[in-house]
Amino acid sequence: LEQTFVMIKPDGVQRGLIGDIVSRLERRGLRLVAAKLMQVSRQLAEKHYEEHRDKPFFGELVSFITSGPVFAMVWEGQGAIAVVRQMMGKTNPQEAAPGTIRGDLALSIGMNVVHGSDSPESAAREIALWFGGETPLKYERSMDRWI
Ligand code: GTP
Ligand code: MG
Repeated sequence: LEQTFVMIKPDGVQRGLIGDIVSRLERRGLRLVAAKLMQVSRQLAEKHYEEHRDKPFFGELVSFITSGPVFAMVWEGQGAIAVVRQMMGKTNPQEAAPGTIRGDLALSIGMNVVHGSDSPESAAREIALWFGGETPLKYERSMDRWI
């Protein structure tokens, strides 16, 4: 089963949106296999967003991600990577469709509430980066056969 890395950014934590976002992913049928509330170091933030190193907003992005606790998670399910991306909506919340996390809960591109891996390669890299050493739990829920 596919796994994806999802992070509720500092704005989502500060605004009390952890429960709403976790609930959406649970109700979709995805299974939570790892999670932690944590303060991100500058080093981890720069590594996580290294593909954006040369972008003009990189400094702002790293400052924002390190500005308060984030809620880091691994979710599992059929097509989990694409499903979460679709549920998140477009990067710019003003273009994100209603019904998506960003389309329902955010307004500005700099504070768009949530991150999700954008490809199988990113998911593998990000899960190793954020949860390296920890093994995501393997377990079954009795409802999984209905999903
Ligand atoms: P992530 O899941 O956070 O990686 O978002 P994404 O994959 O939808 O977008 P992308 O990887 O292209 O950009 C990473 C993050 O950088 C975005 O989520 C935004 O928070 C931020 N970002 C992108 N473009 C801008 C910008 O023009 N200004 C600012 N301040 N932030 C931006
Ligand atoms: Mg991205």
